[in-house]
Amino acid sequence: MRTEADRDHDREPDGDRVRERIAAELEAVRRRSEGLTVHALDEGELVAQHSPLMSPLVWDYAHVGNYEEQWLVRAAAGGRALRPDIDVLYDAFENPRADRVELPLLRPEEARDYNARVRRRVLDSLERVPMGEGSGLGAGGFGYNVVIQHEHQHDETMLATHQLRKGDPVLPDGAPEGPDPVPPGPEEVLVPAGPFTMGTTADPWAYDNERPSHTVRLPAYWIAARPVTNAAHMAFIAAGGYDDPRWWTEEGWRWRSEGGKTAPAFWFRDGGTWMRRRFGRVEPVPPEEAVQHVSFHEAQAHARWAGKRLPTEAEWEKAARWDPATGRSRRYPWGDEEPTGRHANLGQRRLRPSAAGAFPDGASPLGVRQLIGDVWEWTSTVFHGYPGFTAFPYREYSEVFFDDGYRVLRGGSWATDPTATRGTFRNWDHPVRRQIFSGFRLARDAAPDEGGVGA
Ligand code: AVJ
Ligand code: FE
Repeated sequence: MRTEADRDHDREPDGDRVRERIAAELEAVRRRSEGLTVHALDEGELVAQHSPLMSPLVWDYAHVGNYEEQWLVRAAAGGRALRPDIDVLYDAFENPRADRVELPLLRPEEARDYNARVRRRVLDSLERVPMGEGSGLGAGGFGYNVVIQHEHQHDETMLATHQLRKGDPVLPDGAPEGPDPVPPGPEEVLVPAGPFTMGTTADPWAYDNERPSHTVRLPAYWIAARPVTNAAHMAFIAAGGYDDPRWWTEEGWRWRSEGGKTAPAFWFRDGGTWMRRRFGRVEPVPPEEAVQHVSFHEAQAHARWAGKRLPTEAEWEKAARWDPATGRSRRYPWGDEEPTGRHANLGQRRLRPSAAGAFPDGASPLGVRQLIGDVWEWTSTVFHGYPGFTAFPYREYSEVFFDDGYRVLRGGSWATDPTATRGTFRNWDHPVRRQIFSGFRLARDAAPDEGGVGA
């Protein structure tokens, strides 16, 4: 005899597996958040504003709990609101980052209790929420996946706050165990002209801005097989790159001049040596590492000085996902399997990028390395919706940022959790931002006789 459980199973064959994964990911991200907040710093440091660019850490911490309450307790499970009175405090649009320190925020201990209460409600209701296709917020766990990624994104933001914080180190050094193996490979690869599938319609982890999938035709281009290194950026500086308006856009030159910028954020010179401050530790800038903490303007100027340009967002994605053997677009450069430590520097396992040219096992079919992990890569593309974009589940995740003020970054950094990036994932920021873990790679047009077939 067929039971009700059998019928549930037919509607959502993967339901239990999806629920188990959700519970494990929720647990893991909370451990990460607490390691950056209540387990890392005292109350004074948690409520302090370390930079006008950032929220107090205790705001991010309670904001992720409040977001979880709104989406999982109220919307997905249809439960009663726990603390509707605090929604306004943790609404990012009501309160600019610089003002959040003045709000009557939950104290760290209160935030911890609140987040734990929300979480108990979520876990208690998980069994009852349908996970099958066509179940709206529940489809493939979508609403839960949004909340998990949201908390990881705030954890990355918290790491930027830690980086801006003055004072003694509280995070581990995060140095790799030894030098990263960098097996030889090409400097750049030719991506032939032709169509590829950009974005996704079916991925249950994809945000609205990654949807829908659509065909994009590109002319042939060359793209660097590795990100730009600190050594290469030191060469740009030594060549007078920061002082030569020829390399900068008008807007970039204004930014550089008004701020007196001469090097990436957190760099300073000690005699003839470039040093950096990283989470409160001072160390020589490692020449082999991918450069980070550069603005879009610095990336663009470096590229022009090098006789190259930044890739467009579509060029980045084709290099990362397009498989010439099948014509299919993969979820990751190496295939569809989830990232592991073999593929990419992700998930805050170390607190820095790796050497450029590392992770050959994470290369794309064309041999491009480190597209995922290490540093977010600035592209030349202004953030907008794809053709057919519809805001889901709310306009404020993406759509309100389609105002020409943001450039797209791709790939994820060493600070990005594996659940919060993939070949379709789109990040965006103002072109002047550089407290984020941002770097870049170079691209250039192909000559007419190079790979120009198939367009
Ligand atoms: C996608 C990183 C630009 O931090 O503003 C967090 C992510 N959205 N809460 C941001 C986000 C809502 C977003 N970025
Ligand atoms: Fe948020």
